[in-house]
Amino acid sequence: MSVLSIEHLYKRFGNQTVLDGLDLQVGRGEIVGLLGPNGCGKSTTLNIVCGLLDADAGQVRVNGQKVSARTASLVGLCPQAGALYLDLLPAENLNFFARLYGMSALGRRQRVDELMQRFDLAGHASTHVGHLSGGWQQRLNLAVALVHNPQLLVLDEPTASVDVQARLALWGLIEKLRDGGMTIVLTTHQTQEAERLCSRVALMRHGRVAEVGSVPELLARVPAQAVAVLQTRNEATTTHRAQALGWTVHPYAGQLLCLLPTASSLRDVVQAIDGGEVSSVSLQPVTLEHAYLELLGQTLSG
Ligand SMILES: Nc1ncnc2c1ncn2[C@@H]1O[C@H](COP(=O)(O)OP(=O)(O)OP(=O)(O)O)[C@@H](O)[C@H]1O
Ligand SMILES: [Mg+2]
Repeated sequence: MSVLSIEHLYKRFGNQTVLDGLDLQVGRGEIVGLLGPNGCGKSTTLNIVCGLLDADAGQVRVNGQKVSARTASLVGLCPQAGALYLDLLPAENLNFFARLYGMSALGRRQRVDELMQRFDLAGHASTHVGHLSGGWQQRLNLAVALVHNPQLLVLDEPTASVDVQARLALWGLIEKLRDGGMTIVLTTHQTQEAERLCSRVALMRHGRVAEVGSVPELLARVPAQAVAVLQTRNEATTTHRAQALGWTVHPYAGQLLCLLPTASSLRDVVQAIDGGEVSSVSLQPVTLEHAYLELLGQTLSG
């Protein structure tokens, strides 16, 4: 049985259809990542799963139970905007949220101590949360989401606004939770994060899951054996030449990203593109970023 089951989910805000028949299943112990452009409905989906928003239609079940006040204790949310009290200490925040879930005084004390240790927060025990760095605040957010021992952890962009070191630390913590058997659904805009953490990735477009699968499964759906990134002085000519070779071309941050349908060496690519207009060529394996671009028909460069 899925820990999270979402079937035919619909949500409108005014005239805007935000979720348009979204389906998603998350099995026990999986980490499933929702990826998609800004505004495609990722946070709306998570907020419905957590019971913060009502759907217009569709079924959402956690551990087989319809989402309701009774399922709130099964789900732990790390919201996109954070939910911490900045003028409280870390342990006071944990204690506050533990109380909300109705935990006994003794249970709270034990759980708060355990999470303070597990998340290395003891060194910041006397710092008000507002004075913690973004990385430490996010670490505390994660601890708060776990305070009532949920079955399903919901992380909305868990590393969006933290530095590289903090991101790596958070990835390590999320991996530990995974290794302990936690079921997690997360959103991210970082394809590397999804590659590293997620057992399956759901690519969302226009309020639906357009593609879902493990990273290798998604990569296999990209009609390319490799990707050539070209720097060119004449984008139109180079695009034309590449398309004539049967390559799929995407403008990409001032360069051209070309999906090569057959395995090619760097020498093959340079010879095929043959030209004065191209100033640099690099050959890369197909990654989730390329799959996102190709399967969602998006440009990552904006
Ligand atoms: N409470 C609300 N009232 C009206 N519109 C809303 C509300 N919440 C979200 N929206 C709109 O619904 C759409 C989807 O929002 P949502 O926050 O789910 O997107 P998202 O995929 O999480 O985007 P991002 O990647 O920017 O976080 C957006 O156009 C947003 O403006
Ligand atoms: Mg969002």
